Amino acid sequence: MTSTFHVRGGRRLDGEITVRGAKNLVSKAMVAALLGEGPSTLRSVPDIRDVQIVSELLSIHGVKIERDVDAGVIRMDPSAVERAHVADIDAHAGSSRIPILFCGPLLHRLGEAIIPDLGGCRIGDRPINYHLDVLRSFGAVVDKREFGIYITAPSGLRGAKIHLEYPSVGATEQVLLTAVRAKGITELSNAAVEPEIEDLIAVLQKMGAIISLQTDRTITIEGVPHLSGYEHVAIPDRIEAASWACAALVTQGSVFIRDAQQKPMSTFLNTFRKIGGGMEITDDGIRFFHPGTELRSIAVETDVHPGFMTDWQQPLVVALTQAGGISIVHETVYENRLGFTDALNEMGAQIQVYRECLGGSSCRFGRRNFNHSAVVSGPTTLRAADITVPDLRGGFSYLIAALGAEGVSTIRGIDLIDRGYELFREKLTALGAEYWEGDA
Ligand code: EPU
Repeated sequence: MTSTFHVRGGRRLDGEITVRGAKNLVSKAMVAALLGEGPSTLRSVPDIRDVQIVSELLSIHGVKIERDVDAGVIRMDPSAVERAHVADIDAHAGSSRIPILFCGPLLHRLGEAIIPDLGGCRIGDRPINYHLDVLRSFGAVVDKREFGIYITAPSGLRGAKIHLEYPSVGATEQVLLTAVRAKGITELSNAAVEPEIEDLIAVLQKMGAIISLQTDRTITIEGVPHLSGYEHVAIPDRIEAASWACAALVTQGSVFIRDAQQKPMSTFLNTFRKIGGGMEITDDGIRFFHPGTELRSIAVETDVHPGFMTDWQQPLVVALTQAGGISIVHETVYENRLGFTDALNEMGAQIQVYRECLGGSSCRFGRRNFNHSAVVSGPTTLRAADITVPDLRGGFSYLIAALGAEGVSTIRGIDLIDRGYELFREKLTALGAEYWEGDA
């Protein structure tokens, strides 16, 4: 598969696509399977590279995987979990941050865990300090070695009272995946409460865990000695759905997204409506369309759930280049998630980034040297350009910009998009986009 993509912009996206399970739930539910004494079956699994990476990581730890890619079903049998070689973990984990979440389950199953250098999208420093602090709270011993980090639990893992400085999604998942089988009660305050986390809690409850989620971001987990396998249908991918919704808007099109769900997307839907986007919400999915009149500017701030997701920000910024007036975007989750706007400016957008917290509240990044606020002036005509994908969501945003631009754009490194957008080439074709691959 080549990684250079050419898109002839200016065609309306029109038609229907389907979204399957959320990347950011599926990968964690797969890790949870490690905790079961019997096999687990996960359905609505998307055909994305992150699923392949987690499958390989599970396989090298002795989990037997059977996958029907077309049907979206994955069966994981962890009855013969074993230690993996560092070199193998390294080789398979290179481009993902998921290995850090293997720690709790592996400590329970094997008494040790190894974490190589972590990858993931380059959208900030992406440290793992919360994860290591969490593991230490449970009694794990963290040892830095030349190959990465070696973690053991000489006295077993015990429930703990943990407060997160920031409601990190990954750190909350780390607590859940470790606490469910730790001895005693764990109380986590300032937890992340994203719908994907609630779905992970549902998975763990099916396995036999005892978890309660209070309305004040507190999660209480009573450890149990044994967990079984589970059967679960993953929550649909609300980031993918919102990305295609923005593509519909930028191309003046109309896209029905089968299986997109209203509730987890509620904040996005409010924003989409405020800028003038059209939508029809049905039991089977949501149709997003351009209303035929000029879009309106907006001030928006990303935040943890129930706020406006950081992963929706990049596609939305492309849509805001088509809105009349000045829009303000304040990114408060990642310190470095606006770098992709340089390429949009090359395409004719007018976006300026600032270090100051613009819009709503001041955030952790205020008065530091992070360009984390953007002012978008619109509407602007986008022109084709030769651009390189910077990260997963930024990459899809370039695709959206190219679809809405005049002329033929070249997008390099397109395979990064395969990490999180299943069958996007087929979906583009189904919606009538004109593109081709190759160096020519
Ligand atoms: N953070 C720390 N220390 C840590 C962990 C996080 O300082 O140990 C900081 C991060 O640097 C960031 C903030 O806390 O500034 C929030 O990070 P969080 O831990 O919530 O993010 P994550 O778990 O690493 C997941 C998703 C991201 C999504 C974020 C926020 C997965 C695999 N990734 O990342 O998704 O943006 O939550 O919702 O679930 C994507 O899908 O493209 C993506 C980047």
